[in-house]
Formats: sequence, structure tokens, C-alpha cells
Amino acid sequence: CGIIGIVGTQPVEARLIESLKRLEYRGYDSAGVAGVVDGRIERRRAAGKIRALEEVLAGEPLAATVGIGHTRWATHGAPSVRNAHPHTQGRVTLVHNGIIENFLELRERLEAAGRTFESDTDTEVIAALLDSELGMGKPPVEALKATLDQLAGAYALAVLIAGEDAMILGARRGSPLVVGHGQGEMFLGSDALAVGPFTQRVCYLEEGDFVALSHGAAAIYDADGRPVERAVRTVPASAALVEKGNYRHFMEKEIHDQPEGCQRTIAAYVDTLTGRTDISGGIDFAGLSRIQIVACGTSYIAGLMGKYLIEQFADLPVDVEIASEFRYRHPALRPDGLVVAMSQSGETADTLAALRYCQGKGMKSAAVVNATESTMAREVDVVWPIHCGPEIGVASTKAFTAQVAVLTALAIAAARARGKIDAAEEQRMVRLLLEAPRLVAESIKLEDAVRAVAQEVSKARDVLYLGRGPMYPLALEGALKLKEISYIHAEGYAAGELKHGPIALVDEQTPIVILAPFDSYFEKSASNMNEVMARGGQVVFITDADGERHAPSGARVVVTAPRCDPLVAPLVYAPPIQLLAYHVAVLKGADVDQPRNLAKSVTVE
Ligand code: G6P
Repeated sequence: CGIIGIVGTQPVEARLIESLKRLEYRGYDSAGVAGVVDGRIERRRAAGKIRALEEVLAGEPLAATVGIGHTRWATHGAPSVRNAHPHTQGRVTLVHNGIIENFLELRERLEAAGRTFESDTDTEVIAALLDSELGMGKPPVEALKATLDQLAGAYALAVLIAGEDAMILGARRGSPLVVGHGQGEMFLGSDALAVGPFTQRVCYLEEGDFVALSHGAAAIYDADGRPVERAVRTVPASAALVEKGNYRHFMEKEIHDQPEGCQRTIAAYVDTLTGRTDISGGIDFAGLSRIQIVACGTSYIAGLMGKYLIEQFADLPVDVEIASEFRYRHPALRPDGLVVAMSQSGETADTLAALRYCQGKGMKSAAVVNATESTMAREVDVVWPIHCGPEIGVASTKAFTAQVAVLTALAIAAARARGKIDAAEEQRMVRLLLEAPRLVAESIKLEDAVRAVAQEVSKARDVLYLGRGPMYPLALEGALKLKEISYIHAEGYAAGELKHGPIALVDEQTPIVILAPFDSYFEKSASNMNEVMARGGQVVFITDADGERHAPSGARVVVTAPRCDPLVAPLVYAPPIQLLAYHVAVLKGADVDQPRNLAKSVTVE
């Protein structure tokens, strides 16, 4: 969910909406705002996206200079107006991001004491608790602390209290919250993007902190209620990076951003003059026994790609696991390993918990993140930023290739540190990596060819993606992209596993996308292609010019990617599968940037 709060001197309605639009990537099931109007707190809420809320406001404006807003990704309770934030109980109106784990117990207690609830949410319970504490005569900050002490779970909160006209309270535990400093105005946001249109001067609350904002100041307290100072820093004006420009969708723009994005990433990890990698940040790759990568979603798939690269080149064992499994299954860990959290946002709750679990076992830690001010970035020993700029489309594209680029540089660096390659080989590989952005740009030029394939794929009910070696994670990513944004059922499989199950799905109606550059796996992939075609399957063959020449005839379509070294093939073959998902979704009229039920940043487990 996304949160914004403004203690302003000017009207806030338009500004709350502007901020919520920037936050829509965090969830868009429903939205709402509340503000102080003539000493009373008024709310406006709507199910669905921000534009529905705008319509409500057009009919019934909110003439406030102090207000809060929220865009929701539903956890407790269906996405309806009734369950939309802000929630009100007595004097308290608040918005919440996170999950209150003991909410049922609290709700029962409050109901027994005579409270009635309007929604099914865990959030309303927080409002009721705080209202009760205020009812006992406690001043706002004290009442907030007493409330927080009763909550189990994760939250970021922004709170209005009737009778406290120029105050917003905030609190964070498990979900991030930033305070923005303006000119005689103060802001509260679930990330720096939320307050970005109004100020670049922000301060990140720490775990357990809570805050009282007034017009000119932020009084911050730590978890024990002691007043604390948190550093105010100036964040780069990222506003320009979150405009769509001439593109129809953020996803389309972000796919096209990739050559530049990769270039920035690679430039950060190699020295172009010496041809050496520069990534360690104090990690002794030679002394490591293993790497444990933890991640979710597309970041997990990037991690899987990392396993292929690092094990092959650096002969260093890498385990990759879905964070939500890893964190609860008591994995066997040794302190001499390195945990690498892969996360675009740096906030994904399961990944964060898995990371902390490893740290608790004494492992050194690193995070490959896009958001360098995120919780993960702040909690690890080493941060490896991916440098691709803010990613807004819910379906990850440029962050994926940037993550893969970092892992490729890491594989080369580790190989060198472990004596698996010499300086000359390191330079050769670095040169290959430096050529990757140009090849990625070439690969994006396949867009017209891919659009034609999309016509066919958009009619399918099921689609299979097959690949071997590093093309296997990419097959998983192709399938994930397609299902995320076009709602067509898709599966990614290791091509060799085809005959052990998925081949049963093959018929004339099922497109099978085979990713097969002309490399050491090619012959095997070609055999799988024959097996599929023998059963009437419609093959979309993504290969290069050599592969095209050696391919068995009969593919429905061949998409010819630029020739490249296997080291950079994961980067070069990513755009065609992203573009395929994108154009299928566009053809189907789906909401590309905001697919149903998903959210970009999932800060609940
Ligand atoms: C959500 C997004 C995915 C993303 C995943 C992990 O599910 O919809 O696109 O891959 O979270 O996010 P992270 O920020 O940790 O990379």
C-alpha cells in the first residue's frame, strides 16, 4: 500500500492525489483521503484506482490544508469502499500499510468493551485502540505509544486526530516511512517517491520509530518513546525518471530503457580503463564457502540466473531460494557463507525476513537492490545497487536485466578472486559485458517481429516456455511476465524436463516458446523442438542467425536475436520475451502497468 500525509499551509487535495498516483504501483485496489475541514475530519474513498477517487472528489471536494491519503493492496477484507482507508473510530482517522497479526484478538477485546466496527480490516482496530487510549485522557503521542505497544505485526501509519488540527502522527515497524521537510510544511510518505513532488529533503524513520508532525517540525521518538534525531538527507530529484515520456505504458518505456540501464549498472561494477571488475565491497570471494541468494518473484528468477553464472565461472556453490519458503523451513546454514538478498524495492517482507535469518546465523550479508535507501540496503554489510532508475511498471523488466548484469559482474569478479580465470580472461569477459548494452538495444529492435508473434499468442489459453542452461531461468521469466500482465496461463520449463510431464499439454493450440541461442545446449534444445513439433505444437523459436541455419525446419515463427557470447545471452534474450508479454497484454486490452491483484512492492508476508 502507499501512504501520504501533508501538514500544509496550502490546500492539500490535489497534492494528495498527485502523490497517490505516484504510489499507485504499491497497490490499487481502492484509495482514499481524509483532511481537517473546519475543525472536523472528513473522508473521501473509492474502490478501484485513484481516478475513481478523483471522481468522488470532483463531486465532493476536500477543502483541507492538513490531510492523509492511501492507495491499497488488500490484505484483510475485499477491496470495497467500506474497507478502503482511511478508517475512522471516534476522534481517530488513519491509514495503514502492513498486517496486524493479533487484530482478531484485539478486535474481540474492543467489541467486548462495546466498540462496533464498520470494516473487515485490521486497520480499523488500530484506530479503535488509539481512540480508546485518547479517551483515557492521554495526550496524542503518549496514546500512540500505548497503542503501538499492543500491536503485533507490521505497520506504517499516518494518523489524524480530531481536535488536533495541525498534526499528523506517524509510526513505522516493518513497513517503511519517510518524513519530508518543506517550507513551513511537513510530509509523511511510504517512500521518497511519495513526497518527491514536494520536497527532496527527507528523513527515513528507523524500525520502531514514531513521529508527530506539525507545520514546521517533526518530533521523532524511538521504540522506547525516547526523543531521537534522524538525519535529514537530500534525495536526488527522481521526478523526471518517473514520467512515461512518449510511451504508452511504463512497462514499454522500461523495456526500452534497458540498454541505458544496463550500461549504468555495468559501468558501476567494471573499470573500463583496466578491464577489471570492481565489485567486492569488502567481500572476500576466495574465502567464501557458498552464497545463499534469497528473493521473490522476478528477483528470484534473476537469482537463479546468478547461480548458473557464478557456479560456472567462479566454481562457488550458490543456493537460490524463494524467501517465503526459506524463512520458515529452518535451513542449514554456516557462518562462512554470504547471503545475498535480491530485491528491486529492498522492502519485500519475506526477503527481508530471510536476510535477517541468515544474519542471525552469523553470515555476512549483501543486497542487490534498486532502492538504495531501502530497509535491506540499510541492514546489510554490502550494498550492490542495480542503478537502473525507478521502475514503475508492476511487471519487472529493467530491474531484472540490471540484476542479471550485477550478477554477471559478480561472477567474473568471484572467478578472478578464486583463481579460476587470469587477468587476461577477466578483461575479455569484461569487454563482452561492456558490449552487452549495444546488443540489448539490437535485441529491442526485434519488437516488430515479436508483435507479430503476439497476435498468435494472444489467442492461446496456455503457453509453454522452454530453455536450457541460463535460458531456463529466462523461460521461467517469460512465463511469469506473460501470466502477470496478460492473464494467459503460462509455464516455464527446463527443456529437458519436457518429456517428464509438460509434453502432455502440447497440442495444435499451444504456442511453445523455445529460447535457444546457438551455444553448447543448442543441439539438445533442437531435439526438444522436434519432440514438440512431432505432436503438433506451434513453436516460436527464439535463436540467433546460426541457430536459425541449424534449426530443424517447421517452427511456426523464428525470431532472430543478435549473435552474442553465452556470457551475455541472458541479457540479450530478455527483451524479446518481455516484449512478447507486453504486446500480448496490449492486444488483450489488459492494464499493463497495473495488472489485477498484483502490487509492485509487497511489504506483507
Ligand atoms: C512483487 C512484484 C514483482 C517482484 C516481486 C519481488 O510481486 O509484482 O514484480 O518481482 O514483488 O519484489 P522485489 O522488490 O523484492 O524485487
